[in-house]
Amino acid sequence: MIPPRTAVGQLRTDLRWIGSRPAATPLHIQLDEAGLTTPTGGARDGRGGHRRGDGHLHGALDAWAFPGSEERPRPESTPRNLLGFKDGTRNIKAQQTDLMNDYVWVGKEADQPWMRNGSYLVARRIPMFIENWDRDYLGDQQNVIGRAKASGAPLTGGTEFTDPKFTAKDDQGHLVIPANAHVRLASHEENGGTRLLRRGYSYTDGIDPVRGTLLGGLFFIAFMKDPRQFITLQQKLGTNDALNEYIQHTGSALFAVPPGISRGQHWGDALFS
Ligand code: HEM
Repeated sequence: MIPPRTAVGQLRTDLRWIGSRPAATPLHIQLDEAGLTTPTGGARDGRGGHRRGDGHLHGALDAWAFPGSEERPRPESTPRNLLGFKDGTRNIKAQQTDLMNDYVWVGKEADQPWMRNGSYLVARRIPMFIENWDRDYLGDQQNVIGRAKASGAPLTGGTEFTDPKFTAKDDQGHLVIPANAHVRLASHEENGGTRLLRRGYSYTDGIDPVRGTLLGGLFFIAFMKDPRQFITLQQKLGTNDALNEYIQHTGSALFAVPPGISRGQHWGDALFS
């Protein structure tokens, strides 16, 4: 069942972005051209408007080059978002069939049989206050996310793909990954196992003509078998996430994505039969 549309956590709707579109030019390219990238920014890998899809949802998810959604020969190649952090490290991988079945593909439990083997897509337009973020200390940025900026490793140590230890405390008894860190609040460990397949794009809209600030952020896209998975996470993030100081959700949409079709079938066959 698709739940009624609710303003879930931290949404301040900008009417221009209901049914929104991602912009094509990655902001970091503009920043590079303007010589504005910072030493720790590092966001030079191309994203936004460069994906392949074959029109078949399963195939498309397998084929698209998405941060963290496929096994990568070089793990260090996880793309960075416009905050300069690796984004996609603990995402579901398309090859993790069990996780895809448990959290992404609609299964037999669906009360809408035409949606079986399809998925639900949540989209959010999330502008970032990039100048404010860039002025923040590295240590504070890392506490906001809960990971090291350069390596992507959790603050509890190891490498990028080491699991975070959310219960670990320092000598003074403080949580090493802060209570309001983004990765803690979004993690399946702290949300009764809830997971999503994230497929976000960085976007840019140039410069704010009034304030002179950079207009850009994340076009957040996630697939899930039930929209309530997003609601669970976003209610927690919208209330407590330290990242909220640097972002603002301005657009929101929910799509039902029916399954792909085989030869001889028509799009929407299951819906109308
Ligand atoms: C501009 C907004 C956002 C930024 C910049 C951002 C950034 C990040 C970063 C850097 C990570 C750590 C790397 C990783 O595991 O992928 C992460 C993890 C994650 N984010 Fe976000 N995120 C944003 C919004 C959201 C939203 C709206 C949701 C869902 C409601 C979300 C869900 C997650 C999840 C589930 C993880 C994995 C947590 C874990 O298990 O460790 N994020 N995000």
